[in-house]
Amino acid sequence: MIRPFVLLAAAIAALGGLLFGYDTGVISGAILFVNKDFGLKPELSGFVVAVVTIGCIIGAGTAGYFADRFGRRWSLLAAGIIFGIGGLLSAFAPTVATLILARGVVGLAVGFASVVSPLYVSEISPASIRGGLVSLYQLAITVGILAAYIVDVIYARSGDWRMMLGVAVVPSLALVIGMLFMPESPRYLFKVGKMAQAHEELGRIHGEADVDIEEASILESLKIKDIGFAAFKMPDVRFALFIGVGLAVLQAITGINAVIYYGPQIFAMAGIADSGSAIGATAVVGVVNVLLTFVAILSSDRFGRKPLLYLSCSGMLIALVTLAAAFAFGKGGSSLGLIALGSMMLYVGCFAFGLGPIVWVLISEIFPLQARGLGMSISTLSNWVANFVIAQFFIIVVGAVGQAGTFLIFALLVVVTIVFVAKYVPETKRELLEKIRVLPKEPVVS
Ligand code: BGC
Repeated sequence: MIRPFVLLAAAIAALGGLLFGYDTGVISGAILFVNKDFGLKPELSGFVVAVVTIGCIIGAGTAGYFADRFGRRWSLLAAGIIFGIGGLLSAFAPTVATLILARGVVGLAVGFASVVSPLYVSEISPASIRGGLVSLYQLAITVGILAAYIVDVIYARSGDWRMMLGVAVVPSLALVIGMLFMPESPRYLFKVGKMAQAHEELGRIHGEADVDIEEASILESLKIKDIGFAAFKMPDVRFALFIGVGLAVLQAITGINAVIYYGPQIFAMAGIADSGSAIGATAVVGVVNVLLTFVAILSSDRFGRKPLLYLSCSGMLIALVTLAAAFAFGKGGSSLGLIALGSMMLYVGCFAFGLGPIVWVLISEIFPLQARGLGMSISTLSNWVANFVIAQFFIIVVGAVGQAGTFLIFALLVVVTIVFVAKYVPETKRELLEKIRVLPKEPVVS
């Protein structure tokens, strides 16, 4: 039986994902009007967009420390407050300098939330539904991206970029208020020695009957002391980091944000000439992204993480090769546009039930409690660095090797992902967090 309380806690924490999606997505529509209002040159305009990712890198890099030092709940509350401040500051920014600062602050919050939201959800989830609940966080990201897109379209008429950026204050407030009423993660409470409170929270999550096995397992795992960065000297922790960073980087360099951020441009390259249709096609892709995430929510705990990853990557591979072939051999015109739309729907749809959510699920599962905050921080940080590289270089690479070449590179990287999953990634479905082992036999790293 899923307790409504657990669902509620996971949903509130997932607001961090909603803001992640919204704040990374909204700028693409807002920037045109920001440019006009402040008379920005391309370099400065590019910086207004890029500074969010720089903030994300700093936020993700420091979040693990804060989550371990002050707790998961306070860290999520802090993320909500920073989101709110950043949103307000963006909406009322009198100068470009303030706007850049505000977007940096928003980025900080996004980075922070991208570590702490899945971490919190994973730690409060019963093992049997953990995959589904952490996938809820990915669902929130996709809803956020779609909402940003809709808000951009609504305010595009009036050119009100302040409203576009300011709307994010509403979910920020919801996150802060919601988290005020949510409990701390019991695993964190055990870790800092608040045994009675931890026991009580565990009871609220599982019901008193099932607490004992879980508690015994957590306590057993805590016999190894918290040793900060030194934990990464242990072979299994180091190997978990290798898997976490590997998955995080592969999730980004297989091209998802080339499609999410540059959707309209890709459609324009495929001959969907008028910008209205290109934007419409992008919206369709956004809806597919939301809908297919439900597959992961409903099936990652039944079929397992790895089968979903294989299926997801296979679909992405077919889509990318088709897209590359269409660009290489297509003669333009409406058929190329249609193939592009079909391929992008297939690509994003397959990402949405596999490589998108499952990477976050696994990153939140593979580290032992002592190294979870730091491990997730470093993995997530790598995801943002890789995202930054893709966002900066996608158009340049297209210029250098052409569209077909670029999509083939992504296809190749999807093949690398499949091999990586087969070779290194453990199956974690329905396993207690403390029982998850990344090294099944003897350590391979010493
Ligand atoms: C990725 C984001 C991406 C989003 C798309 C997330 O899992 O980390 O970079 O924009 O999925 O839905």
